[in-house]
Amino acid sequence: HTYLVVMAGGIGSRFWPFSRTHHPKQFHDVLGLGRSMLQLTVDRFRGICPTENVFVVTNRDYVELVHQHLPELPANQILGEPIGRNTAPCIAYASYRIAQRDPEAVIVVTPADHAVMHEENFRAAIRTALDGARTHDVLITLGIQPSRPDTGYGYIQFLDDAVKPQDVQTMPGHEDGTFPTGLRKVKTFTEKPNLELARMFLSSGDFLWNSGLFVWRADAIIKAFHHYLSDIAEVFDEGADQLGTDQETTFITRAYSQCRNISIDYGVMEKADNVYVLPADFGWSDLGTWDSLHRMGQHDADENVVDGNALLYDTKECVIKTPSERLVVVQGLEGYIVAEYDNVLLICKRTEEQRVKEFVADVRSKK
Ligand code: GDD
Ligand code: MG
Repeated sequence: HTYLVVMAGGIGSRFWPFSRTHHPKQFHDVLGLGRSMLQLTVDRFRGICPTENVFVVTNRDYVELVHQHLPELPANQILGEPIGRNTAPCIAYASYRIAQRDPEAVIVVTPADHAVMHEENFRAAIRTALDGARTHDVLITLGIQPSRPDTGYGYIQFLDDAVKPQDVQTMPGHEDGTFPTGLRKVKTFTEKPNLELARMFLSSGDFLWNSGLFVWRADAIIKAFHHYLSDIAEVFDEGADQLGTDQETTFITRAYSQCRNISIDYGVMEKADNVYVLPADFGWSDLGTWDSLHRMGQHDADENVVDGNALLYDTKECVIKTPSERLVVVQGLEGYIVAEYDNVLLICKRTEEQRVKEFVADVRSKK
């Protein structure tokens, strides 16, 4: 009954120009390992979830790309969205689709653009979360020890004490289920705090980052949709019996036009009172931005991360990612991103990288 839902519909605009609308970063071999982020994501779940239970949710424009990257996936396991409505509708679609097929389904939801260094630890953590989710009415997230006041993440505060069996709800028919000892009850979940708050969270020492990896029963998350995003639940309730039939595409087109744009973090995780976190350490990194590539990549003696053919003079702490056929010569640059991809060249201060989103919007509006 174990299912995997890969959310692969984002356009990764903070990674522009490397991530482009027609070829977002999940389809790139960002780490230079010979596998795209999407392929690495699915690889990671070998031995946990059989291929017939793997679903990828993406924009209809990327269905063909997903098919090329994951040829082993049957077409009806690639769920195409007519428009991007952020992660809540994406998760609703997949959960309803899976629940239709298997009422006992337990789902791992994963982003498609993260790096994991220690795969064994990762799999152990996923298995623990699955053990808890299988028999309980809980929403589980994997939590990561934060290392900087990053405002791009969700922050989780949790209760230190072990969860007592009487304090966690079992699912009807699963009253014999035991709750794994590593899981902690979440006290507060704060999505993308401002810098001041993020600093406070970090220095207080009792917050974790939300990894964006979630584990829950299909019926538990559907119940949460009814409570916290009832407008979205209503849309999917109405057409649930069309999922998995030849009416699915027509229904989904209509459904998405009725769904608002909201992430699961704002829509459910911040509000629900049955959220649990598994503190985990598996060398996690969100390759969401240029700075993350600077943190993850191989540094030269001057702290530059270079992927391309570059000759550097007096240049420090830069990220340089350029096509190998282009020779790039740089002198006297400190702390910059130099990125070229597909006829766009970006030169931007690393500390200003959050503005990349704004540049993308401007470029689009000028088109
Ligand atoms: N199918 C689909 N449709 N996928 C989507 C959509 C959509 O409309 N929007 C985003 N995604 C995918 C992205 O491709 C990514 O794999 C994942 O969902 C998460 O979306 P992001 O846009 O990257 O979210 P975020 O990084 O701002 O925040 C989330 O992840 C952080 C950790 O990386 C939140 O869960 C934070 O709380 C968390 O800390
Ligand atoms: Mg992200």
